[in-house]
Amino acid sequence: MKEKIAKLIEEAKSAIKSSDSLASINNVKVKYLGKSGELTQLLRGMKDLPQEERPLVGKYVNEARDVITQLTEDKLKELSQAETDSKMIKESVDITLDGKTTQRGSLHPCTLVTEEIVDIFKSLGFTLGDGPEIELDKFCFQMLNIPLDHPARDMQDTFYITDDILLRTQTSSVQARTMINTKPPIRIVCPGKVYRPDDDATHSPMFQQIEGLVVDENVTLCDLKGLLETFAKRLFDDKTKVRFRPSFFPFTEPSVEVDVTCSVCHGKGCRICKGTGWIEILGAGVVNPKVFDNCGIDSKKYKGLAFGLGVERVAMIKYGIPDMRILFENDVRFLKEFK
Ligand code: PHE
Repeated sequence: MKEKIAKLIEEAKSAIKSSDSLASINNVKVKYLGKSGELTQLLRGMKDLPQEERPLVGKYVNEARDVITQLTEDKLKELSQAETDSKMIKESVDITLDGKTTQRGSLHPCTLVTEEIVDIFKSLGFTLGDGPEIELDKFCFQMLNIPLDHPARDMQDTFYITDDILLRTQTSSVQARTMINTKPPIRIVCPGKVYRPDDDATHSPMFQQIEGLVVDENVTLCDLKGLLETFAKRLFDDKTKVRFRPSFFPFTEPSVEVDVTCSVCHGKGCRICKGTGWIEILGAGVVNPKVFDNCGIDSKKYKGLAFGLGVERVAMIKYGIPDMRILFENDVRFLKEFK
């Protein structure tokens, strides 16, 4: 029996030694130590042995179990360490290599200008207003004191969808929409797209405006000038001056065109300002009381200030862009300049 057990140990040793994977060492473990493994069989067979041999044989079997258990555990440890090591090597990354970069886009110059302008007015207590681009004639024209068939409509050539539905030609439509829904005081700026059938180096059939409206008691043309001067100084620089020229809009009385000193030559005269030193950036005025009457605001108690500017025009001035069409071509070489 002793030889039989010694032989079993030798067999197990060589099986353990030649195991080269976790699976094969586990098989060995089951073969010798498992419930129906060789050693267990030997222990079970002890009942057939003569009484006096049993303690000695039991001792041999236990010793054999200890030796085989120790050896399989050692081999298991060794193999699982080897497996982890090879996994680590296979999955390792070279942290000194350059990462994969994704191309980041940038904001369009018109978006940059819009955000900057809106931020300036927000800091002056204005909130954002909004209205639809497909608009009713009533809000775009009639309530703003431009009746049907009135010659003032010629100022803004229009895309009509039906007789009373059109693509808004100006963000001033938001003035009307806001006034019928809001009690004064009102202070809003409304950025948005507008449409007119014009197309050349300085006009596009779609362009963007920002409209401003103040309705309050005791506001005057002087407040409008102070407001727009503060705005222009923040948008361009501190040296910027503002000048009002008399003009006409049906919804404001008096109406003005607003010029600022050229931000490129500071009033000396250059290519951008066509030698005049001034650049027109806004239309503005005191809201015509007829507009208040149309929108249900008490024109005896309240005064209004309104202004509107073209975003593309301001972007062209600010960034020295000579042709408006570049703004719509989406040439990435141009857009990358604004990163
Ligand atoms: N809506 C005018 C335009 O598009 C600009 C403007 C706005 C003028 C507000 C006066 C007051 O030409």
